[in-house]
Amino acid sequence: MDHDRVKPQDQLATYLAEDMAAVNTLIRARMASEHAPRIPEVTAHLVEAGGKRLRPMLTLAAARMCGYDGPFHVHLAATVEFIHTATLLHDDVVDESARRRGRPTANLLWDNKTSVLVGDYLFSRSFQLMVETGSLRVLDILANASATIAEGEVLQLTAAQDLATTEAIYLQVVRGKTAALFSAATEVGGVIAGATENQVRALYDYGDALGVAFQIVDDLLDYGGTAAVIGKNIGDDFRERKLTLPVIKAIRRATAEERAFRHRTIARGDQTVGDLEQAIEIMARHGAMAAARDEALMWAERARAALVVLPDHPLRGMLRGLADYVVSRIN
Ligand code: IPE
Ligand code: IPE
Ligand code: MG
Ligand code: MG
Repeated sequence: MDHDRVKPQDQLATYLAEDMAAVNTLIRARMASEHAPRIPEVTAHLVEAGGKRLRPMLTLAAARMCGYDGPFHVHLAATVEFIHTATLLHDDVVDESARRRGRPTANLLWDNKTSVLVGDYLFSRSFQLMVETGSLRVLDILANASATIAEGEVLQLTAAQDLATTEAIYLQVVRGKTAALFSAATEVGGVIAGATENQVRALYDYGDALGVAFQIVDDLLDYGGTAAVIGKNIGDDFRERKLTLPVIKAIRRATAEERAFRHRTIARGDQTVGDLEQAIEIMARHGAMAAARDEALMWAERARAALVVLPDHPLRGMLRGLADYVVSRIN
């Protein structure tokens, strides 16, 4: 097979296959509950649907690249995926989303109460897993990341529907709700491996920039993707009146008529059939999508640049490729 044609995330999955199998075994063992049968039903629904497993692969890659050969990178990778899964359960309640990983969401199949409580259960499980590593520093990093994710989601809640939301606020939201977990995932991999402070910092910077690029692309796909490809419904952000980067850029360039459109659909929330298509058309007309994509490319370049101080290792090349790949999802 032509090596260059294989997606970086598949290269990582192949390289890390043994570790990932251990992570998946650990995830399955810890997502069960003897006392409340609904918990394994819900977690299995979400976990067996797959998901890209990007964050646990980042942890494994960081640890291996820095020479780790102990057992705890597996615990940390499972921890990170548990935190991610918990935030997805909560996020789909907050966003009233109906599709995730190509399946109906848990809030739709069961209800909001179930999603919130099973999310809490997974959060708690994630903390048990990280305690097993015995590293207080790792605990500190992941506890901070969890708090930062919640802050990002709440900040987004208060910024939604507000046409005055700036790109700086958007960036703050994204760094919180998404990049915080990416950067924690890579950072703890370095920490458990005993990497130098310089390398740990580089791993953090890589994860942070990759996470921002990833979320900008995710936000573009919410307007320009297809449900079949992203496994989620498109248009959720418009319906939730979220001020994502392409929207903010389009508003800055808007005509009076377009301003009125935004005022009606976002500030007042009065939306009708055809509005989503019109929103997409306006963003395309002003080059707002292209401008947001350029910004994602810039963050991907930052991610790649951060890798230079890390060991010369096949995994470093794959992480480099991953930064490009994350943005190529919208090409
Ligand atoms: C979804 O993340 C949440 C965002 C930060 C946009 P992923 O797209 O990595 O979700 P899965 O795990 O692959 O389903
Ligand atoms: C993703 O937020 C971040 C978290 C899940 C914390 P979004 O709401 O933008 O992501 P999707 O589109 O639902 O995956
Ligand atoms: Mg959402
Ligand atoms: Mg959300």
